Amino acid sequence: MTIDRRTFILGSLAAGAAAGAGAACSGSQEHGSTTAPAAKATAAPPAKKSILILGGTGFLGPHVVTSALARSHTVTLFNRGKTHPGLFPDVEKLHGDRDGHLEALANRKWDAVVDPSGYVPRIVKMSAELLAPNVGHYVFISTISVYPKIDVVNADESLPVATIADPTNEDFKTNYGALKALCEKAAEAAMPGRVANIRSGLIIGPGDPSGRFTHWPTRIAQGGEVLAPGDGQTPVQYIDGRDLGAWIVRLIEDGTVGTMNALGPEKRVTMKQVLDAVNHALGDKAQLTWVDEDFLDKQGVEGWSELPMWLPNKGDYAGFGTQQNAKAVKAGLVFRPIGDTARDTLAWLETVPEDQRAKARSTGIKPDKEAKVLAAWKART
Ligand SMILES: NC(=O)c1ccc[n+]([C@@H]2O[C@H](COP(=O)([O-])OP(=O)(O)OC[C@H]3O[C@@H](n4cnc5c(N)ncnc54)[C@H](OP(=O)(O)O)[C@@H]3O)[C@@H](O)[C@H]2O)c1
Repeated sequence: MTIDRRTFILGSLAAGAAAGAGAACSGSQEHGSTTAPAAKATAAPPAKKSILILGGTGFLGPHVVTSALARSHTVTLFNRGKTHPGLFPDVEKLHGDRDGHLEALANRKWDAVVDPSGYVPRIVKMSAELLAPNVGHYVFISTISVYPKIDVVNADESLPVATIADPTNEDFKTNYGALKALCEKAAEAAMPGRVANIRSGLIIGPGDPSGRFTHWPTRIAQGGEVLAPGDGQTPVQYIDGRDLGAWIVRLIEDGTVGTMNALGPEKRVTMKQVLDAVNHALGDKAQLTWVDEDFLDKQGVEGWSELPMWLPNKGDYAGFGTQQNAKAVKAGLVFRPIGDTARDTLAWLETVPEDQRAKARSTGIKPDKEAKVLAAWKART
């Protein structure tokens, strides 16, 4: 089974591409995180924070907004007013373009800023420098694609990050990981010791426009024989966008800074455990047929894009599905069961316009190709 790096990176970017602390923070932690003692007191009502979100209307942003409002924080959105402009009618909205038109942010103060829409270091530098005197805490949403290779099992945040020969190259479709790594640095340089860099893994669940995880609940809910990748033992990782959104708010409440991998679940799971749990949550209507990765390769089936969430864990991806999340867990990241994500993803799909539903459902192996591969698998000698 082959997967080129570009496919994997673009896969990670797909959802983001839909859109082109407190003063108590202390210490600069290049690869660590600090959590204020208040983090332990989850039941206590949080001190009310004012939170600026650079974006907020795509996929992850709305989960942050919803979680922040549920915790009684005050939210301001800054965006161009193009993506889902009707969302959050009662939330303050400031309009402008991150690329040079930040006037609406001048002379305003917030406790924290969340930046899910930064892909280019020059642009992140612009907002972080402008906001530095008026904002306590910068939460930058990064990605595990900063790691050019996940070739070590159990790797933590010290795994080397991608570099780029020409740092003025802003082509984020081909240099996604390297540019995100530079964005992290740009934020930290502007606000030393006040930045949380969140290296997210595959974000899944309601609202996902990429349709990657969505392939599995939609296909499994149809029932019948379902093509499943490999021997089932490949470890996989992901994060429900709602868990990530709630945790980002928790980081703001606690004033947590540092660089953290954000992916789950807490204990390692295999692809088989995940698909069995999804099948079970949706009524056990599907029979999963596990097809050997070499066979899939010969049939021209691609991991990650046609069989989402899964890659053969070898070579540059020998550590795929095993990245450490201990820092994030210590800082309060919790994970809902994958069955809940599957059920809620299907329920969400029913509520979106048909074109969006069709787009989300178009990811993953096409039905005729799946049938052909399954037939060939059975006919093999
Ligand atoms: N999806 C995954 O599996 C995955 C995995 C790892 C990491 N990530 C990271 O997670 C984040 C996902 O973010 P999201 O897109 O869901 O965030 P979001 O905040 O929900 O949506 C993007 C927002 O940015 C605004 N925006 C885009 N370009 C802008 C500009 N030039 N000026 C001002 N506002 C602008 C958009 O609104 P307007 O269009 O109205 O301006 C929109 O509100 C990304 O950082 C991505 O790298 C994703």
